[in-house]
Amino acid sequence: MPSSDGLDKTLAALGITEAEQVAARFAGLRAQFDGQFPTVQDENEWKQFRDRWLGRKSGVLTLITDNWLKPATPELKRAVGAALNELRAHVDTQIEARRAALESGAETSRSAKDRMDLSLPGVIRPIGSHHLIRQVLQEIEDIFSSIGFSVVEGPEIETAYYNFEALNIPEHHAVRDDMDTFYLELPRNVPGPLLLRTHTSPVQIHVMEKRQPPVRVIVPGKVYRRDNPDATHSFMFHQIEGLAVDTDITFCDFTGTIDYFVKQFFGENVKSRFRPSYFPFTEPSVEFDASCIFCGGTGTAKTGGPCGKCKGAGWIELFGAGMVDPAVYDFVNYDPKKVSGFAFGIGIDRLAMLKYGIDDIQVFFQNDVRFLRQFP
Ligand code: FA5
Repeated sequence: MPSSDGLDKTLAALGITEAEQVAARFAGLRAQFDGQFPTVQDENEWKQFRDRWLGRKSGVLTLITDNWLKPATPELKRAVGAALNELRAHVDTQIEARRAALESGAETSRSAKDRMDLSLPGVIRPIGSHHLIRQVLQEIEDIFSSIGFSVVEGPEIETAYYNFEALNIPEHHAVRDDMDTFYLELPRNVPGPLLLRTHTSPVQIHVMEKRQPPVRVIVPGKVYRRDNPDATHSFMFHQIEGLAVDTDITFCDFTGTIDYFVKQFFGENVKSRFRPSYFPFTEPSVEFDASCIFCGGTGTAKTGGPCGKCKGAGWIELFGAGMVDPAVYDFVNYDPKKVSGFAFGIGIDRLAMLKYGIDDIQVFFQNDVRFLRQFP
């Protein structure tokens, strides 16, 4: 404080002997306080101001106590004490009020900053979509559901019984070579062998074990094979199995169902055909082809040469199928003399490649968003 306030001197040194003089001094200090007070505008200024007046070592009130009150003559002590208390009460109240005002002001400006501007454009968060395989799977399910098939699922880890034996593939059958697969390493006390299923056909057995005809199911899911990866092979891929068994199902029901599916999936103009094939669990067995959707079945590309997709054949192989072999019914206690049915196994990944003109199966599993985004 400026020495002109006389705070560094005793009242005697200032020549103050009367209570009126004391009152005048205090009135001057209060006026000084009230004059400085409006200049306090922020937290920093408030702290400095508080210390100037209330600081323990050299604040105005401490100096008054030490230099004026303590050494005051008994006659003046009462007047100084009363005036000091009054000044202290005023200073305390004002300083506290200013602190509260500054804090709520900061609060207000903080909340103004935080306030939402509803006119701003929203933050666009990228939303994923179903993988193309999932979309195709859904499409196939919808087509078969619309003609009375229900969807069931089965285990990806299988016993050799379901994956092979109950499908009429005994232990030393040559077909096992094609499907020699991933066997699981099991602890000694777990009966095995267990393997990753090589096709969805084992679910035919699970379903027929549990249900009596009529049976009409489709079975989507992952399958695993020890195939080297290339443009059309993956060690893990997707199949959808179909199975229909009833008392009077004929080969015509079978081809009619497949033709309906092919037309629904690829379009009305696409034709289907079947060729003889072999699967141990169907008899007769066939391979279904669709007329090439790229060259319209002509075998000739628009540019003149042979169509690159069907290699000039005009047909593209779609999937394996057949009438359920009566030997399979024996494994599930169906009477082969009373029931008949058909089954098929579609490779979903290859079907998706055909429909969407994708020439490498590996892109399905690389999760490159530039590819995935093309199929929202
Ligand atoms: C089977 O898996 C039989 N279970 C299908 C079947 C079911 C026949 C019911 C009769 C009755 P295949 O091994 O041909 O058949 O496989 C079926 C389809 O899976 C093939 O047409 C092909 O589209 C697809 N596929 C086979 N191996 C691979 C692979 N490594 N990568 C991608 N797709 C494959």
